[in-house]
Amino acid sequence: MKVTVVGAGAVGASCAEYIAIKNFASEVVLLDIKEGYAEGKAMDLMQCASLNGFDTKITGVTNDYSKTANSDICVITSGIPRKPGMTREELIGINAGIVKSVSTSLLEHSPNMVLIVVSNPMDTMTYLAHKTLDMPKNRIIGMGGALDSARFKYRLAEAMEAPISDIDGMVIGGHSDKGMVPLTSHATRNSIRVSEFLSAERLEQVAADTKVGGATLTSLLGTSAWYAPGAAVSGLVQAIACDQKKMFPCSTFLEGEYGLNDICIGVPVILGRNGIEKIVDIPLSDAEKAHMQTSAEGVKKTNGLLDV
Ligand code: 2OP
Repeated sequence: MKVTVVGAGAVGASCAEYIAIKNFASEVVLLDIKEGYAEGKAMDLMQCASLNGFDTKITGVTNDYSKTANSDICVITSGIPRKPGMTREELIGINAGIVKSVSTSLLEHSPNMVLIVVSNPMDTMTYLAHKTLDMPKNRIIGMGGALDSARFKYRLAEAMEAPISDIDGMVIGGHSDKGMVPLTSHATRNSIRVSEFLSAERLEQVAADTKVGGATLTSLLGTSAWYAPGAAVSGLVQAIACDQKKMFPCSTFLEGEYGLNDICIGVPVILGRNGIEKIVDIPLSDAEKAHMQTSAEGVKKTNGLLDV
């Protein structure tokens, strides 16, 4: 199982590290445009192999896509991250060109790849990849909902003073500060609805804190987060690589599902060896349906800035 991660910055390197530690891939190629940067990160990570007990071979390359050839799964993390006060949508000017170029180079060398897009604004970058690449839609996946759901579970556990392992919850919709749709009505603590433990007001605060989870960290760190984004991507990679048939909220191209067309946006999907094996249609409350429609309008507005 060969995985390529483009972008050896904080998110890409964290993703490569988590993939290696999970030890399901034979090889991870880390690629960056900065001379020697990916090579250095890969060597540093490989020097953890005996300490963290993995056999995955991590190699770094500088802008040489031939070394990514025949990758089973490719991850695009490259592009500029947010600064405090920025929205993800403001990154489109630079990141669209990067994602178009990188995804084209990846496909030239790995025609059977499953592609995971992380670069922001992620839903629009996933849509750009879908419009740019001659690939089936099930093999183009945007990672945002898995990260947002992890932040949702963190906030729910915090509110209930519960262990996170007791919590289940999912965030769908756009990966944006205003577009996320935390599915509070479906969230549980050990199979019991969270509304049995928290007031409606407290649950609204949990949802609000979830939506700005990325921005909160950017204001603290001065740049975008990387540990949880890297971990979220590694979970998708593992589900695909190991054909786990796990359900995640992922950005995917919709053709009528959830009443939406010609858009990539976060919905529940089953991930396996072929990428998105099924889009799962779940019942939404009237409020959740309305939030999804508003979220889709926001994503389509950003898509409108693309030259596709
Ligand atoms: C985040 O929410 C980077 O979009 C990513 O942290």
